[in-house]
Amino acid sequence: MITKPKGTYDIYGNSAKYYNYINNVFATICEYYNYEYIRTPIFEDSELFHRSVGETTDIVSKETYDFKDRGDRKLTLRPEGTAGVVRSFIENKMYGEVNQPKKLYYSGTMYRYERPQAGRFRELSQIGVEVLGSDSPIIDAEVISLAYRTLEEMGILNVTVKINTLGDTSSRENYRDALVRYLKPHLDKLCSDCQKRFATNPLRILDCKVDKDSEVLKNAPSIMDYLNDESQKRFEKVLEYLDYLDVDYEVDSNIVRGLDYYNHTVFEITADIADLGAANVLGAGGRYNNLVSFLGGPDTPGIGFASGIDRLMLVLQELNKDKEIDDGISVYVMAVNEEERLTALKLVQDLRWCEVKTEMDYLDKGLKAQFKQADRLKARLLIILNSEDLQKGLMTVKDNLTKEEIKVDENEILDYIISNL
Ligand code: HAM
Repeated sequence: MITKPKGTYDIYGNSAKYYNYINNVFATICEYYNYEYIRTPIFEDSELFHRSVGETTDIVSKETYDFKDRGDRKLTLRPEGTAGVVRSFIENKMYGEVNQPKKLYYSGTMYRYERPQAGRFRELSQIGVEVLGSDSPIIDAEVISLAYRTLEEMGILNVTVKINTLGDTSSRENYRDALVRYLKPHLDKLCSDCQKRFATNPLRILDCKVDKDSEVLKNAPSIMDYLNDESQKRFEKVLEYLDYLDVDYEVDSNIVRGLDYYNHTVFEITADIADLGAANVLGAGGRYNNLVSFLGGPDTPGIGFASGIDRLMLVLQELNKDKEIDDGISVYVMAVNEEERLTALKLVQDLRWCEVKTEMDYLDKGLKAQFKQADRLKARLLIILNSEDLQKGLMTVKDNLTKEEIKVDENEILDYIISNL
């Protein structure tokens, strides 16, 4: 038997219901917020990710699926969605469109060669948004609130928004220098990964999962003391707007994020669910004001977030484990002989096109087995066809709750069903 690749899984049955539910809720909310849907390729030129996400990040240095196609092109399966959206924004000259900022949302699979564990997969799906063309702190608050409200709408309430600022480029550089000076004499007390990060990406040491409780990190200088006035004021505005929008947040100066493109606002939304361990981050994002110009476009600020659908599915399954998902059908049409089956075929189609979830038998089952099947499918109403009734232009409808039966004129059957559901 050929089995699925490590770190992937099939979404079907109950989990497929959650998968569709999450996508539908997200799309509906994004449309209300006036975001436009965008779909970008699952593979891109490798250089896009190496340049945007950053050579020294875990994602690019250890986790990308890189390959050459038959034309010898270097391609990479996307590890995240932002880089592709920004590439598309530049390539399609969206910055020239009249309506700005460009507010985009997406959903799709991403690929990271990670060590699979609960809530951490090699093929993962994300929903996300990117807003390009506005540096207003109002947009920061809108994006964070959209992420937060999406979880709330799904019934995921025990979450914390952890927010931080990395400041503008000069604040970030000043802080980086101070951090390097502080960490240098303590390097031997940090894990081997952090010792490497010290040379390549020292800020990442702050969100190391191994060293997170070490005294060295607890006493490290805080970015807050290195922000210039402008960055400080900007951050205060974002917090003020979040207060105003009633978003619960916590300022956490250890949030630095694992991708290189961020500046100013960065945030993570974590769930209070023990089983998920370090995979309890349900969504994350931040501002990236230099990424568009860095990738060759005009100077354009940007901000966005992405949420892991797979993790949301796990949380929803856990939250709803005692509840049954209501997946019953509305109508089951019963037919046994060829004449009845022909009538059923057309009737089932008509009902479905009236948006009534309808099913019939396709396995030549007898009447008794069809009753059982209708019960298993939790049909609300049964339409029992029989040749005798049909000759008189009648159909029997049985209410599966009250068990009452009534004969209905075939010309009125659609109206009857719709008004009795
Ligand atoms: P990220 O933090 O790498 O950010 O991923 C965002 C979310 O995707 C995580 O919070 C998590 O829920 C989910 N996720 C990440 N890796 C995995 C995995 N291996 N298995 C399951 N779920 C996972 C980004 O991807 C940025 N592009 C977010 C962003 C958008 N920033 C600005 N705009």
